[in-house]
Amino acid sequence: MTDKSTTLILFGATGDLAHRMIFPSLYHLLCDGLLPEPFHILASGRTEMDDAAFHATIREALGTYAQAELLDEDRIATFFGMIGYCPVSAGDAAQFAALAERARALGDRPMAFYLSTPPSLFAPTAQGLAAAGLVGPATRIAMEKPIGQDLASSRAVNDAIGDLFSESRIFRVDHYLGKETVQNLLALRFANRLFEPLWNASAIDHVQITVAETVGLEGRVSYYDGVGALKDMVQNHVLQILSIIAMEPPARMDSTAVRDEKVKVLRSLRPMDAETVRTHSVRGQYRDGAVKGKLVSGYAEELGHPSDTETFVALKAHIDNWRWTGVPFYLRTGKCMPERQSEILIQFKPVSHSIFGRNGRGGDVEPNRLIIRLQPDENIRLALMAKRPGLDRGGVKLEQVELDVSLAHAFAGERRRIAYERLLLDFLEGDTTLFVRRDEVEAQWAWIDSITRSWTDAEQKVVHYAAGTWGPSAGIALIERDGASWHD
Ligand code: BG6
Repeated sequence: MTDKSTTLILFGATGDLAHRMIFPSLYHLLCDGLLPEPFHILASGRTEMDDAAFHATIREALGTYAQAELLDEDRIATFFGMIGYCPVSAGDAAQFAALAERARALGDRPMAFYLSTPPSLFAPTAQGLAAAGLVGPATRIAMEKPIGQDLASSRAVNDAIGDLFSESRIFRVDHYLGKETVQNLLALRFANRLFEPLWNASAIDHVQITVAETVGLEGRVSYYDGVGALKDMVQNHVLQILSIIAMEPPARMDSTAVRDEKVKVLRSLRPMDAETVRTHSVRGQYRDGAVKGKLVSGYAEELGHPSDTETFVALKAHIDNWRWTGVPFYLRTGKCMPERQSEILIQFKPVSHSIFGRNGRGGDVEPNRLIIRLQPDENIRLALMAKRPGLDRGGVKLEQVELDVSLAHAFAGERRRIAYERLLLDFLEGDTTLFVRRDEVEAQWAWIDSITRSWTDAEQKVVHYAAGTWGPSAGIALIERDGASWHD
């Protein structure tokens, strides 16, 4: 752990993410006495306004997004006492100079810059800060995803930021890593003796990772169109989950050891080509339908013109290493699905010989299955075979039962945190473990590029699915061809 940053300069402070997540998280941290003391936030956006007008916008955001029981006018006044607003547009040296003056007036204290802006502004913002004399060995910088739109542009961003900050001072945010449930995957795998001996190709048939959302575009058309589900969700969140599920045990729970193991997995992903994308990937786009009883108009209608952007993607991935040879990882994510559901399914192989059927076969022995539900509810379910009570005159009857651990129940007294609370605190304290290292993000892009390139080469277009369904039938066929099925 290093020195704490006591001044936070936030770019994109008038944006949606700042309102929904960053300010409510900072407020929660203040309520728990977890912010450094003293602490200052310089909020910055392109809009011209004074501190009071900015505070009014944040007051509204807290009312909507902060925990209601924590709202307290005195505490909110203390919070606003920490927050100043400075209009800054990338490229405007005078505005950067004014920001620097205001920052210096707070004292010569370690600063942290948080960029919640479009990625095209990452380099110009960092350069503006450097030109204004704000960047030094004690400063650190955080950036929201996406880091680039492909490997080449991500390298360009990483080079530009890397010219000004050392890697240990760069914090690439993937908010899934801030989720308690994602961190719990490390605990499940490496704090239990039970799983590791079976966590490989000899016992596991396949793995499924699903991140399904009920929401559609929600007004993010201009960002989303042309990006699509592969780059918006798989490139980052889904691949981070995959890397934690598939990695070798790290030697220690520290940022280098954990990230070294994750990057090895990401580099072992088998690239796709024009041949394999046809059978190993499906692109979908929702059209009219109903989600949870509410009518939803199709993506193209919402957009106002036809588009080839996918809002659903299903993939069959392979990790070419000793542990996972021959084990497919089925990945899927989509918008306007029937349920919000993020989960990982580990499908074990059948017992090697069944004593319950004839000739070692049959007898209704289902292979074990471990389901780790990340959201909305947090639970771990292990499907086991059990004997159905009875006198067994016609032979032993077996049935699948579940060992079901609800984490919400097990930790009923604990407050559930916004992912950003953890990430902001780690950022201010300088712990990079839950942030994405340059080599990880670039390995992620290298694999994603192989898919997008192959989609172009194979001229693979989106297929449609009705909003409120689990994606196009081709997505179902992708896994059923292999004799498995999605766990919905
Ligand atoms: C974001 C994506 O990174 O993650 C969004 O850009 C998506 O499209 C969101 O909706 C999902 O996050 P969560 O925390 O709601 O699962």
